[in-house]
This record gives sequence, structure tokens and C-alpha cells, in this order.
Amino acid sequence: MMKFEAKHGLLKEDLHAYQTKVSELHKAIRNQTGAGNDYMGWVEWPVNYDKEEFKRILEVAEKVKDKAEVLIVCGIGGSYLGARAAVEMIQGLYANNKTEVIFAGNTFSSTYMAQVMDYIQDKSVVLNVISKSGTTTETALAFRLLKNFMEEKYGKEEAKNRIIATTDKARGTLKALADEEGYETFVIPDDIGGRYSVLTPVGLVPLAIMGIDIQKIMDGFLDAYNELQSESIDENPAYAYAVARRILQNQGYNVEMFVTYEPQLQMLAEWFKQLMGESEGKEGKGILPDSACFSTDLHSLGQFVQEGNKVLFETVLKVEEPSLDLAVPNDPENKDNMNYLTGKSLDWVNKMAFEGTLAAHEEVGNVPNLIISIPDMKEHSFGYLCYYFFIATAMTCYMLDINPFNQPGVEVYKKNMFKLLGKPE
Ligand code: PA5
Repeated sequence: MMKFEAKHGLLKEDLHAYQTKVSELHKAIRNQTGAGNDYMGWVEWPVNYDKEEFKRILEVAEKVKDKAEVLIVCGIGGSYLGARAAVEMIQGLYANNKTEVIFAGNTFSSTYMAQVMDYIQDKSVVLNVISKSGTTTETALAFRLLKNFMEEKYGKEEAKNRIIATTDKARGTLKALADEEGYETFVIPDDIGGRYSVLTPVGLVPLAIMGIDIQKIMDGFLDAYNELQSESIDENPAYAYAVARRILQNQGYNVEMFVTYEPQLQMLAEWFKQLMGESEGKEGKGILPDSACFSTDLHSLGQFVQEGNKVLFETVLKVEEPSLDLAVPNDPENKDNMNYLTGKSLDWVNKMAFEGTLAAHEEVGNVPNLIISIPDMKEHSFGYLCYYFFIATAMTCYMLDINPFNQPGVEVYKKNMFKLLGKPE
């Protein structure tokens, strides 16, 4: 099962010193009475998610799967990162899938968008547009282009069978448009904000179309819900992690580097960065979430971590069992001098890289390391991690007296941009 270790964290305070505070905030989370509590629908979601809608997701996925040589997922932020993190974590980066997923609506880049449309020209396409507000400009603009593309390619009638909209149940332009066009629609619950929504239809629809077992994900989500019920720092690894982050920031570490040793976890790191960054970065407070994939980035950022400015601590997501493994073949000629690894598994080498790096960073570099271990990169672990990070985020933000569920700061760039674009008031 999942484990959290702070013994390499160079913590100068005892985690238990925060137990009273944690117990008080635990109630605010579990009873949904803390700041931002109108967006705490995720707390009970593992138990009370809409089972009828879940069934419909499976049915719709079954219906469109054969048409989806390419699945375009059009969304941004919380309406994008979770699905991408899950697809990459669970299926890997070069899966021999029938369906290829492409993400759009997450950029204004003309080159990107034109290239996507060119790439899918002769492919069989299904499009899932996802926006809670239904008004996000990046997504709405990409959807206008893609809707046009689909209607030209398939005609209006068949395009309807290939477009699925995931949005608010009543509000927003996308909802009205989807109803008028007769698209299949799925609902994003009112009380679950974007970055906490991956296990609502926001993520579940694309994941089901990609052939991922979404029931196993929900099972992992529910197991975490049950196993992380305790207010005790000793029994609740999500709270231990939340407290360790606060202690490390008190010690002057203002950057958290989320480290993986698996390239297929890089988007999980991006999802984590949004979850922590958008939840905590307010009122001049918070830890800047950063990420790195080792050992790749040991050959780029490694120098800074080892000997640079002591601004950061690392949170390593360690995977016990790789999805696949290889043995190093013997070479009688040994021209590359690699025979000392003959017969060893590549994953064992990766784990030795982790052990060596941990000692180098902690003991020589004085860089604190927190370690979160997961058994594998399968569906259950993904679901489990989601709840673990949700509850840890809520706790760590409440400890800082921050509302983890709003994002007032993201409106500032939009205002300026709208003025420059000449958007009518
Ligand atoms: O976490 C959030 O709330 C944001 O990142 C949103 O998910 C993002 O801005 C997209 O919003 P919407 O789903 O309304 O298009």
C-alpha cells in the first residue's frame, strides 16, 4: 500500500507538535465546514458519486470507442491535467492502443492547433469538450475550430454522434450549445472545483474511451477515502505529508520539487503542481511546486539541487513495481564495459539511482527529501493518489489559513487579455 516517509526530511520540528492543530482542521475538512466549503463535494465523492451517470459513461464509451482512432480532449487546467496524468501513468507513453489521445483547448498556439487539425484530417475522430464554466477562452476557441472541423469532415448529423460535452448542469454557453446541438452531455458537479474534478466525468469520460478500467480507479479512490479517515498524524500519511511541508517551509524552503523516476509520471507531476500551486499560492503565501524526472534531470537540474541555492526540498514519488521491466543482456565482447550489469533488471538500476541520489542530496547536499511510495502505476494507485493529494492539499492549505478551493488570481491575466482582444463587456 501507499507509504509516506519523513525520515530523510531533515525536519527540525516533530510532526506530532502539530497534532492538536491537525485534529481541529481535520474536522473542518471532514465536516466540510472550513473556508471554501461550497467546493468540498470531493470529500464524500468516493462514496456518493452518481452511479447512474457512471454507468452511462461506460455505455457511451463503449458506443464511441470503435469510432475513436483519435480522441481529442478539449479542456484546460482542471478540465485537462487529470485525464492526461491518468492516461500517461496507467497506459505509459507508447501504448499500443487502438485509440490515440490528443489534448487541445489548453493553448492559443496557432501552430499547435493547425498541426493537430492537419494530423487528424484522415483519422477517425471523437471529440470530448470539457469546461465547467463553459466560457474558458482557450477551450471555447479550440472547440469552435474543432466543431467546424468535425462538421466539415462528417456532416452535422454524424458530428453530433462524435462530440461529447462535459460541463455544468445548467449554466454556461457550452451547456446551452450542447443542448441545442443534441450532443451527449455529462455533468461536472457544482461543488467540485476544476483541480479536484478528475474523478468526475471530467476525467472519467476520456479515460473510459481510452479503455482504462475506471471502476478500478474509483475503487482506489474509495480505499483512500476509507484509509485516510484518521485525524492522527501517525495513522494518516496524507496529514503527515501536509505537516512536513509546513515544517519545511518554516525552515525556509519555499520550493517543493516533485520528483519521479518514471517518464510516464511527468504529467502526474503537472497535475500535482496545479493542485498545490493553485490551491496554496495566495495572499503572498505558499510553497512553489516544481517538478523533475530523474535520472534524466539529474543531468540538468541535478547540479542545482546538489550544490545550488538551498531553496528547495524534494518530494519523491517512488514506484515499487514498474509496469514493465527488462534484463540487461550479456555481451561477450563487453566493448561498452557494461557487463557488470549483465542479468540485472533495468528497474533495479533505476532504484539504485534513486538510493544513490537520495544519499547524495540529503547527506551531502543537505536537501530534505520526503518520500511517497506507491505499489505500481495502475488504476487503483491513481485513484488512491487522487484522494491522498486532495486531503493533503486541504490540510496543508488550512494550516496556512488559506482557502484551497478558489483561484482569484487567475482572473487578472484574463481581464487584460479580454481588453486587448476587444471582448464586449
Ligand atoms: O482548477 C480550476 O478551477 C481551473 O484550473 C479550471 O479547471 C480551468 O480554468 C478550466 O476551467 P473550466 O473548466 O471552467 O473551463
